[in-house]
Amino acid sequence: MKFIEVENYEKLSRIASGIICAQVIVKPCSVLGLATGSSPLGTYKNMIEAYENGDVDFSKVKSVNLDEYVGLTGDHEQSYRRFMNDNLFSKINIPMEETHVPNGCATDIEKEGKDYDALIKSLGGIDLQLLGIGLDGHIGFNEPDSFFTAGTHKVELDESTIEANARFFQSKDEVPRFAITMGMEGIMQAKKVLLIANGAAKKEIVEKAFYGPITPEVPASILQLHPDLTVIYSKN
Ligand code: GLP
Repeated sequence: MKFIEVENYEKLSRIASGIICAQVIVKPCSVLGLATGSSPLGTYKNMIEAYENGDVDFSKVKSVNLDEYVGLTGDHEQSYRRFMNDNLFSKINIPMEETHVPNGCATDIEKEGKDYDALIKSLGGIDLQLLGIGLDGHIGFNEPDSFFTAGTHKVELDESTIEANARFFQSKDEVPRFAITMGMEGIMQAKKVLLIANGAAKKEIVEKAFYGPITPEVPASILQLHPDLTVIYSKN
């Protein structure tokens, strides 16, 4: 594991974007695993700038996102599909049809999970997976549990996650109770993993996840077993 501590969010975002852009420059047809939440916003902003400056071309890139709320259509303001379209996809030249987000409105969510895993396999796996981390140690929406789940699956969100994500909705009651998330197999099989975390509030969980025991109670801790993991942390 490479653990990089930086002085602020701007630097974290520039370094993370640099790593992703380097991946695409070296392998233009990369499969990028992408994440939502507030943490990657600065990274995406820097990727857009790199694209606008002509430093990187995303035209051959394919992407798979980690997760989606169950019950939100792709055009819902708080859906992760909408987040990705607004904050990245519509601002770079990745072909929209090569961007994938699990369908939270699928009638059969279990089948959607299996199809999503088959899709990742058919793309040849993920070259680089970007991750944030939840305050309870979740990655994607893999919440603390007594076991790790391998495939893409439906999860019930923890109360603390609902509370943390309520800031994006009008009220806490509007936050969906369920989500569909890539499981640990999809994440761990990525060739490279890049996790970004910022803010003093994340310090404790980052320490637990990367310097504590590997346990499904802290889902991100499984990443300690990944052969090519980079963590970038900024406390400001
Ligand atoms: C959500 C997402 C995660 C993300 C987490 C942290 O629950 N499903 O992928 O890592 O929030 O979000 P933030 O970066 O806003 O702290």
